[in-house]
Amino acid sequence: MKFEWTEAMSTGIEEIDNEHRTLFAWINRLSEANATGTGEHEVMRVLSFLGIYASKHFAHEEDCFARHVCPHAELNRKAHREFVTHFAHVKAECEAHGVTETKAMELQEWLGQWLQDHILRVDSTIRPFVP
Ligand SMILES: [Fe+2]
Ligand SMILES: [Fe+2]
Repeated sequence: MKFEWTEAMSTGIEEIDNEHRTLFAWINRLSEANATGTGEHEVMRVLSFLGIYASKHFAHEEDCFARHVCPHAELNRKAHREFVTHFAHVKAECEAHGVTETKAMELQEWLGQWLQDHILRVDSTIRPFVP
């Protein structure tokens, strides 16, 4: 399944919306890597990129939540921290045990679903606070 940014996910901050689009594009690469059979190496490359990019995005977004005094700042920060911890665990497991096609598909589904839900439930709540 492909994940896509939709208008309902708008935060009112162009840069943040673009970062979300970039995250979806890279998450979708996990299923493409499988479909084209470029395999395990590509999956690990995508995971490495996502880990770095997501951390930068979270920091940027947390700054925006603070700057616009969004009341959901703490909820957002907490969700990011939990994700980062879980992601690091999953990535380390992939590095230690390798990635099967099934595993890569599960990863893509989990990451896409998490991001979609998180943007809709938390990130987009900043919209009314952006002037
Ligand atoms: Fe967030
Ligand atoms: Fe976000």
